[in-house]
Amino acid sequence: MKSKIDALNDKLQQSYLGGGQARIDKQHEKKKLTARERITYLLDDNSFEEIGALVTHRTKDFGMENQKFYGDGVVTGYGTIDGRLIYIFAQDFTVFGGSLSETHAEKICKIMDMAVNVGAPLIGLNDSGGARIQEGVRSLGGYADIFYRNVQASGVIPQISAIMGPCAGGAVYSPAMTDFTIMVEDTSYMFVTGPNVVKTVTNEEVSSEALGGASTHSAKSGVAHITSANDVECLEDLKRLLSYLPQNNTEQTAQLPFVLKEEVKDVLSDIVPENANQPYDMHHVIEGIIDNDSFYEIHKDYAENIIVGFARLGGRSIGVVANQPMYLAGVLDVNSSKKAARFVRFCDCFNIPLLVLEDVPGFLPGTDQEWNGIIVHGAKLLYAFSEATVPRVTVITRKAYGGAYDVMNSKHIGADMNFAWPSAEIAVMGAKGAAEIIFKKEIKSADDSEAKWKEKEAEYADLFANPYSAAERGFIDEVILPKNTRRKLIKAFAMLENKSVDKPKRKHGNIPL
Ligand code: COA
Repeated sequence: MKSKIDALNDKLQQSYLGGGQARIDKQHEKKKLTARERITYLLDDNSFEEIGALVTHRTKDFGMENQKFYGDGVVTGYGTIDGRLIYIFAQDFTVFGGSLSETHAEKICKIMDMAVNVGAPLIGLNDSGGARIQEGVRSLGGYADIFYRNVQASGVIPQISAIMGPCAGGAVYSPAMTDFTIMVEDTSYMFVTGPNVVKTVTNEEVSSEALGGASTHSAKSGVAHITSANDVECLEDLKRLLSYLPQNNTEQTAQLPFVLKEEVKDVLSDIVPENANQPYDMHHVIEGIIDNDSFYEIHKDYAENIIVGFARLGGRSIGVVANQPMYLAGVLDVNSSKKAARFVRFCDCFNIPLLVLEDVPGFLPGTDQEWNGIIVHGAKLLYAFSEATVPRVTVITRKAYGGAYDVMNSKHIGADMNFAWPSAEIAVMGAKGAAEIIFKKEIKSADDSEAKWKEKEAEYADLFANPYSAAERGFIDEVILPKNTRRKLIKAFAMLENKSVDKPKRKHGNIPL
């Protein structure tokens, strides 16, 4: 027996070493942890159980039969993070550059199937040279097997991808179909075709970093939801993100201990400036409402005119969607609509109530926006809110103009509670623009046109630059004092906790894509 135990230990030892010490050292030189070090750091102590440590590839071409490494370039298994079960795969760059073979893909598929059947989040740590070149279409088939499972798991279990090295070609589509993509600065990149192909096809000279590095995808393309400075920070980000999410779509998020106190927040009374055209930072409003230090912003550097992120309110996770008057006056445009729509749909999939903070002057005008399809992209956000059945509460802090009023979780599209601050202006447009249109003829013919403009503008502002016309119709449930907002929201979400909506049976809706 002893010799058999020794033989097993020998094989496992080889598996733990991946592609060998020299390649591990190379990984460290690049300031990257190895797949196993990442798993050890991320998971609770001694909680990881590996599945498939002795898997090897089956390729015989190109002398591959003489190059076998136990594990075949990916470490897979399950364990816990803060006591909660998760499934994980971590690609091992030390084995054939973490490239994806048929068996490598089979290992990933195996734990994806388990994650869905059991109902626990799936985490993928990507660090791979892409398809295993020696395997050709078998490798491509392996990718497709994963993509298919990503889609079947979508909306059933949370799926999170961390990009901690290369991720190119077909490999990018698995992360793209998961719920969140986190990228590590300087050591990770994602692109469909690399700089060499780009040069050949379009004659553009571009570096890997500029083409598909973390900052590019966080600020320009929006492909990355979160960027982290290094591997350790990335793993901490994963833990934090996970803490806001339930295990699966049938569960609620955890309720942390909480007792409702007086909860008066005077700080909220002074944030909105007197002058309606003056910006302010909506982050201050968010911070004044939520539990201390609980805001975790998603897509922080992308489409900054809208803020999305997770927070806790009264100890429970919520999703926050807020216009940001500091950027482009908080208008809705193509990118902000897409960003918010995706976030709303995620929260709705996983029973995370939605809080909307609204200060929106409308949609961004211009040929750029129209030609890039603002109609369809704006419709995404409208659609996402309209189909969401989680508790939905809106607070209008200032402007709620035009179609954007409808879109931003208005009563009419199914919001449960709609609050407004006394500073709210709920109207088709700003008073000046409105007066210029509806009183044009009247004023043109008047002698004292300057004074007349002012008078008519004031008339319109009087009527609509406030929350009362909407409140009279019940479009606003209550006009509240800013300082009471936190308490009102905690009570409103508690009241809505058992909300349940039955929808007519259909295959799926047809969101404008
Ligand atoms: N298939 C098989 N082996 C691969 C591979 C792949 N797709 N990508 C990398 N490898 C192997 C390399 O042969 C090398 O093996 P070795 O350790 O035995 O020398 C090892 O992985 C590390 O690769 P290396 O090129 O030395 O690392 P790098 O950090 O300098 O570059 C990449 C990383 C990903 C940029 C580079 O390996 C690359 O361009 N790979 C091919 C990418 C690709 O075209 N994939 C297919 C399309 S999806």
